[in-house]
Amino acid sequence: MRLVNVNYIDVEKYEYYVAKPIYSNGIVLLQENVKLNINYITQLNSKNIQYIYINDEISEGIDPSDTISLEKYREVKEVIKDQFNMAKKGKDIGLNMNMINNTISELLDVITSKRDISYSINEIRMVDDYLYEHSLNVMVSCLYTGILMQYDRIKLQKLALGALLHDIGKVFVDTEILNKPGKLTFEERIEIEKHPELGYRYLSDNYGNEISSMSKQIILQHHEKWNGKGYPNQLGGDSIYELARICSVADVFDALTSDRPYRKKMPIYKASEYIYSLGHNDFDFDIVKLFLSRIVKFKEGSIVKLSDSSKGIVYNQNKHMLDRPILRLVVDKNGKNVNHKNIFIDLIEENTLFIEKQLENIFSN
Ligand SMILES: [Fe+2]
Repeated sequence: MRLVNVNYIDVEKYEYYVAKPIYSNGIVLLQENVKLNINYITQLNSKNIQYIYINDEISEGIDPSDTISLEKYREVKEVIKDQFNMAKKGKDIGLNMNMINNTISELLDVITSKRDISYSINEIRMVDDYLYEHSLNVMVSCLYTGILMQYDRIKLQKLALGALLHDIGKVFVDTEILNKPGKLTFEERIEIEKHPELGYRYLSDNYGNEISSMSKQIILQHHEKWNGKGYPNQLGGDSIYELARICSVADVFDALTSDRPYRKKMPIYKASEYIYSLGHNDFDFDIVKLFLSRIVKFKEGSIVKLSDSSKGIVYNQNKHMLDRPILRLVVDKNGKNVNHKNIFIDLIEENTLFIEKQLENIFSN
């Protein structure tokens, strides 16, 4: 099984079967095991569904595991969506803090029950649900970092709550400005940059006793930068709370790996490099290193091109070196298809080879 971009598959030349049911607005659009054809692809495009899980010959025996199962992910996303919409409707309706805390606690159980601490991000995203998915992803990656920092459960819960609500202030910003495809004007930028304070004020005024000051500071400070050039208060270095420093790394990372109206998403390995390069200026570099250390860079089922021009599919991870996975060779260095043969390349052993880039599919270059 692997995840593919439906615009990069050739249903006339290859056989692809739906590996996990595909939903659109809560209704099953395509069932498991359905063979894809041109009509289905058109249908998926019209519903704006870009990424789906498929079974095909090269992905046999591969099981890409997300940190949070797709079902759980969808369930939690709906809770977040409802809560954010409540906040938008008015103060007297507002957030259900009990429900939010229980959802966080449940997720924390899921994450802490995993034996290995590696974070495999969920790549199936819906452009329209960006704010909710982003909030959820930022929360989960913050939790991973908090676990690596050996925070206790109470601190993790505070980190998660702040991370989940870090962008709540955006529900009070004009959606047309938030989703504007082009460059923002000066005034529009000012509007957007109000969201940390709007969120902080909304929560302080209405949930002052139910949300710890630590969580609220995450919301207020998540756009501050290590070099003091962030907003709203141009804080720098240690004067930014540690939990907010974690959230700012997670926030930028998730934004980079998501499709936005103004740019395409970056593959995980590139976003990781980019975050690392910003490390000393924008972020607390120790947190950056910790954050990146456990992110799966090339997920199982990803197609990659190696430095000798051969191509393979990521078969498994090397748990201690997440940027050098184990591949199944699909196209050899001479450009020949390696049909029906299980030839594996462990990039820890084949240390003269490296991954040059990730491809959309095996016939891409
Ligand atoms: Fe933000």
